[in-house]
Amino acid sequence: MGYKTLCFGLTCILFAYYIYTPIPKNIEEPWKVRIIDAAIKITSLMATLLEKIGLKRFDELFSIIMKLDYTQPISDENITVMDITFSDIPVRMYLPKRKRENLRPAVIFVHGGAFVLGSCKMTALDLLNRQTAKNLGAVVLGVDYRLGHQYQFPVAHEDVVSVLKFFLQDKILAKYGVDPTRVCISGDSAGGLIAATVAQLIQNDPEFKNKLKAQALIYPGLQVIDTSIPSQRENEHGPLLSKKLALELACLYLTQDKTLPQAMMKNQHMPHGSRHLFKLVNWSTLLPEEYKRNHVYTEPILGRLNPSYSALLDSRLSPLAVNDSQLQNLPLTYILTCQHDILRDDGLMYVSRLQNVGVKVSHDHMEDGIHGALSFTASPVYLQLGIRIKDMYINWLEENL
Ligand SMILES: *[C@@H]1O[C@H](CO)[C@@H](O)[C@H](O)[C@H]1NC(C)=O
Ligand SMILES: *[C@@H]1O[C@H](CO)[C@@H](O)[C@H](O)[C@H]1NC(C)=O
Ligand SMILES: *[C@@H]1O[C@H](CO)[C@@H](O)[C@H](O)[C@H]1NC(C)=O
Repeated sequence: MGYKTLCFGLTCILFAYYIYTPIPKNIEEPWKVRIIDAAIKITSLMATLLEKIGLKRFDELFSIIMKLDYTQPISDENITVMDITFSDIPVRMYLPKRKRENLRPAVIFVHGGAFVLGSCKMTALDLLNRQTAKNLGAVVLGVDYRLGHQYQFPVAHEDVVSVLKFFLQDKILAKYGVDPTRVCISGDSAGGLIAATVAQLIQNDPEFKNKLKAQALIYPGLQVIDTSIPSQRENEHGPLLSKKLALELACLYLTQDKTLPQAMMKNQHMPHGSRHLFKLVNWSTLLPEEYKRNHVYTEPILGRLNPSYSALLDSRLSPLAVNDSQLQNLPLTYILTCQHDILRDDGLMYVSRLQNVGVKVSHDHMEDGIHGALSFTASPVYLQLGIRIKDMYINWLEENL
């Protein structure tokens, strides 16, 4: 009893402390954002404690909480929803019920969660994919790729590739009435990174006969090479996604060794022999002037980590760091970036690089945007910002797919 009271008291004090942490002035619904932010920070702290005393891995507490939000596949009068598998990978399919004369467009959605958390079954994504299916009359697929730490790089990537390989076969597209010239891959956050790499693969690999018409990337991460870009410096402590939390989770896709996230915090994680990649992610040349502010460019420091991780050179973790020849075949692209987001500059740099090689890009920048807002579009905690992002993304698909 005394112990529980003490814990409850401490949590209240922490909550009060976190809730008064300053957040950027232009943020809409600041109290809701503060509450969500405080909840995430307390969860992080508890996750760290549980890990220190050896009870749970860092990601497990987040995973338990997020699983409470998974939904069942529930059809409604307009859409049939099914949990099925493609090439043994679980997918949730949204199939419009209304018979159509013409073939349908299709959207494959890759969820975020730092490669270690989340599912297309989360309420907000279920609503998003359902609404996409309804508004566009599209076949929509949410992909439940396998997650780290259990399945390490490149399993999540390969699962998404397997699903696309299966789905893009002529006979499968025909089975679901999909027009092979109207397929889009979408993703948010880490899912945006996977979507971007899979789009690069499909557009450049002759093995894929049916190509993509579009890719839509919502506040994507697009590189792991430079962890000291201006948006990471400015938003290191959030709101919602702090640099430390992002790295501690995402590194589990490569290793459970804590020296990797620690080195990444200091931009000292890249192995010798990777310097040729720096110019491809150089914010000092790729960012529009207004985002450089007074920041001074410093190169990542090489060769500090032992053992080193060769996966950090793999373009499947840094789709921004490929040469122009691999970018020029990319399809029509939608990129949404948020001002108050560590991943902001990844998106901004990809916009520059794609435009430089003549890829058609639509770019929406949310001046009051924060990372992860799209996951808060359903009660009990929904953000107007999340609903705006959802509508902008679906409107873009309606006009372009
Ligand atoms: C189904 O579509 C109709 C027509 O657009 C709409 O009025 C109705 O609310 C939709 N039902 C659901 C459950 O979304
Ligand atoms: C990055 O860009 C700056 C400014 O254009 C330049 O001085 C620097 O040499 C570049 N560094 C690399 C590694 O590309
Ligand atoms: C671009 O990268 C690919 C694969 O890494 C390589 O084969 C090709 O030669 C490169 N092209 C240029 C122009 O550097």
